[in-house]
Amino acid sequence: MTILVTGGAGFIGSNFIFYLLRHRPDDRVICVDSLTYAGNLSTLSSVMQDQRFRFYRADICDREAIGEIFQKERPDVVVNFAAESHVDRSILDPSAFLRTNIFGASVLMDASLQYGVSRYHQVSTDEVYGDLPLDKPELMFTETTPLRTSSPYSASKASADLLAQAYFRTYGLGVTISRCSNNYGPYHFPEKLIPLMIINALNDRPLPVYGKGENVRDWLYVEDHCAAIDLILRKGREGEVYNIGGHNERKNIDIVRLICGELNKPESLIEFVDDRKGHDLRYAIDPHKIETELGWRSKVSFDEGIRKTIQWYLENRSWWQTILSGEYQDYYRMMYGKSDE
Ligand code: NAD
Ligand code: TYD
Repeated sequence: MTILVTGGAGFIGSNFIFYLLRHRPDDRVICVDSLTYAGNLSTLSSVMQDQRFRFYRADICDREAIGEIFQKERPDVVVNFAAESHVDRSILDPSAFLRTNIFGASVLMDASLQYGVSRYHQVSTDEVYGDLPLDKPELMFTETTPLRTSSPYSASKASADLLAQAYFRTYGLGVTISRCSNNYGPYHFPEKLIPLMIINALNDRPLPVYGKGENVRDWLYVEDHCAAIDLILRKGREGEVYNIGGHNERKNIDIVRLICGELNKPESLIEFVDDRKGHDLRYAIDPHKIETELGWRSKVSFDEGIRKTIQWYLENRSWWQTILSGEYQDYYRMMYGKSDE
């Protein structure tokens, strides 16, 4: 099978490529990525020479370039990870989110129809369901929870989900959609909570916690997410949505304290800063459908996953130090009012 993975130079896409090359020896993997600030070609250096792998630098909104790649590679399956993915950036400027996350997805779906792709998988997020109250722990997102978005990011992701369902119904494109909770693990871009806190703690920099740190996220180790998508590609039913999550809800402040503890850094580094606008209170995934229908289970506990993640950031300083020296500085200054150096 030839699997075309978009956004494969980013966090989850790269981990998915490694997963496929490791577990699916008969598959070819084609990566398409435009290398935005979040894409990093060095992440893929270990697979660049692999005969089963090929990389194309292209923008998913560029219809001509995408058509040429589909024409040449004739993928059987497309997995769309390519996206603008950071909520805070979407609040600063939504436009790139609408372009890539909605229009780009439609270009990929058109090409999938034109070149007879048998499965188009849209990687979505639990954020399309909005948020849950903090005082009703029994409530969780199921696949039938209404879409109720809070940020330009989540609105753009929900739009792509609706488009994918429309392409299934109207054109018969073989679509599946997965909605996953927050991922963590190797190659996570330093702007996101867990890597930001690890890196700042290592550099003895303040740890900026929004509001009171009471917001809850449901964390999943990235490899568990990759295994779930691989399973959906092979066994999932067309036209269906699958929620992915590992029943691991944590308050932000507890995660930051845990990271301080693991790195032997004082909690006095924690700085409570202005809250995010429209900040979602709590996410919690009910993964019953994928567990019962496809037999998926998360395998990595949070204690194990967070230790592996911290270890990875300790052992791969040059990966994140290169990022910190680039455009990221301007963003950090705009967000947090000071340099990250
Ligand atoms: P990321 O920001 O780390 O990576 C995104 C990748 O997409 C980058 O390599 C970037 O260069 C590429 N890209 C962006 N715009 C592009 C364009 N126009 N054309 C081609 N490539 C482009 O994101 P991530 O955290 O790996 O997320 C991947 C996907 O998973 C996204 O669709 C996101 O919405 C979804 N998701 C993420 C999480 C999470 O916790 N990170 C959770 C659920 C769902
Ligand atoms: P983030 O990693 O941006 O993921 P998402 O917004 O998609 O859930 O943020 C996770 C949580 O951490 C979210 O509640 C916002 C909070 N947060 C902070 O408190 N401080 C920070 O510097 C960042 C980036 C996030």
